[in-house]
Amino acid sequence: MSISHVFVAGAGLMGHGIAQVHAAVGTRVSLYEPDMARAAAGRDRIAGNLARAVAKGKLDAAASDAVLARITPVSDVAAAADADLVIEAVFEDEAVKTALWASIDSVAQASAIFASNTSSISIDRLAAATTQARRARFVGMHFFSPVPVMPLVELIRGSATDDATEAVIRELSVRLGKQVIVSADRPGFIVNRILMPFLTEAMHAYEQGVGTAADIDTGAKVGLNHPMGPLELADFIGLDVCLGIMRVLEEGIGGPQFSPPQVLLDLVAAGHLGQKTGRGFHSYPR
Ligand code: CAA
Repeated sequence: MSISHVFVAGAGLMGHGIAQVHAAVGTRVSLYEPDMARAAAGRDRIAGNLARAVAKGKLDAAASDAVLARITPVSDVAAAADADLVIEAVFEDEAVKTALWASIDSVAQASAIFASNTSSISIDRLAAATTQARRARFVGMHFFSPVPVMPLVELIRGSATDDATEAVIRELSVRLGKQVIVSADRPGFIVNRILMPFLTEAMHAYEQGVGTAADIDTGAKVGLNHPMGPLELADFIGLDVCLGIMRVLEEGIGGPQFSPPQVLLDLVAAGHLGQKTGRGFHSYPR
């Protein structure tokens, strides 16, 4: 099956990157947000990424223009009607995702594959928002941020996902330059199940005064050779997103390692969500 038009729902941190990598391999992309200004802002963010690559001499201006020309911001799900693949990358909230999937299912062609970029929610539960016939073509396709840089896709098969769908997503991921791992449809899948206990422990160390945020992050960067420290990484992912993932893990698996630390609850309640709001464990002057 050839994928010539991808409808990406959600133009935020993950969605804009997912749109960029598809356009970069020559695919037409519709980048959807219900609010047109947000869809256009997602495309502007991609333009910024491409401009940086051009400035570094890694991409020529004509190639950058061609990538951008393949991306159309849209604010109506009707644009999914002729998509071969729909990728959903909206906020990590089951109700938001299922409502969107049901509306896209009513307009998309029968052959379209539906892939959720959920980082923790059950693929079967999301697929249940679609018709029985669609569920064979419903799959988890979990990218990592920044999407153009991180070379991994976590592929999650639901109980109804068929072999042909898995094969298309595998082949596409390789075309995008990503290595594929397959996870069972369990809370947090593979990567976030490993990552969240690391983040919670770093947050506990911080709230118990074991070290400053800077020293905890330096410990992981210099002592463990991680590209970012855990508190910096949590800020980068989004503290609200981390909290949502921890809640899914806590509810679905249980155990103190998945229980959100008080400092995280307090920061999220105060609206300090990390890089995107300018403040989290660290400050990000704008
Ligand atoms: N979008 C596109 N490209 C970006 C980017 C962005 N937001 N941020 C950085 N880059 C690119 C840069 O352009 C640069 O590219 P070149 O090498 O081609 O020049 C490259 O990445 C390195 O960037 P920098 O030199 O500016 O900065 P750095 O060396 O500090 O790297 C980083 C930045 C790649 C983000 C690095 O810090 C890193 O790998 N951090 C860890 C990221 C990580 O763990 N991601 C997974 C999060 S978990 C997740 O996403 C899943 C989930 O469900 C929560």
